[in-house]
Amino acid sequence: MKITLEVWRQDGPHDAGRMVRYQTEVSEDASFLEMLDALNERLEADGDRPIAFDHDCREGICGTCGLMINGVAHGPRDRTTACQLHMREFTDGDTIRVEPWRAAAFPVIRDLVVDRSAFDRIIQSGGYISVSTGAAPEANLTPVAKPVADAAFDAATCIGCGACVAQCPNGAAQLFTAAKVSHLGLLPQGQTERWDRAVAMVETMEAEGFGSCTNHRECEAVCPKGISIDWIARMNRDYLSARLRRAGRR
Ligand code: SF4
Ligand code: FES
Repeated sequence: MKITLEVWRQDGPHDAGRMVRYQTEVSEDASFLEMLDALNERLEADGDRPIAFDHDCREGICGTCGLMINGVAHGPRDRTTACQLHMREFTDGDTIRVEPWRAAAFPVIRDLVVDRSAFDRIIQSGGYISVSTGAAPEANLTPVAKPVADAAFDAATCIGCGACVAQCPNGAAQLFTAAKVSHLGLLPQGQTERWDRAVAMVETMEAEGFGSCTNHRECEAVCPKGISIDWIARMNRDYLSARLRRAGRR
């Protein structure tokens, strides 16, 4: 199939950047990233700088890939990361626009690569549990009810890709933060730090320059793991409870 690509090229964080058109021919069985790989081989052979883009597992599990494809984070296929997208989703003769995540808290480093370290700092502020080290505890010492384990697992499937932020008109990170607050806050092992975790992670998220949630639900629509905005409501309840506890009103 013949495809015209319009790709965002930006030499560095301070370069203004521009869209560049490329013609390419690719099998419909190729993945979207393989199509970019093939284009990069051609650019290199021609002595041009290849297009920089992030990727690692290419299996939809690491959260490293992230592209706006025709204005949609991760492209047109529901619950599918950019690395799991295949060219058969497009039609011969299509023009495809490829851009980096667009969000103030995710500055562009080069071409399609953005700096997502703000997510790391949210995790560092509370996305962990403190445990005593020593011999491994007996496996059944802390029973976890099946519904609780299932709910915590659902929240834990967030791969930290940042699509939720990129698609949100406010550049909000509530869906990501809520998933991380909730998967630990549900489990018995995560109760000790539950309230401090909610406050620390929400306040770090705000300090990192993400926008506020106004319920557009674009995050939920593009999330490749189907993370529900119900987790945002739960995070808000935990945050409010934590503030009331600190004020001695609960
Ligand atoms: S909530 Fe979904 S879209 Fe956001 S970082 Fe997690 S997996 Fe990606
Ligand atoms: S490269 Fe790992 S999720 Fe896409």
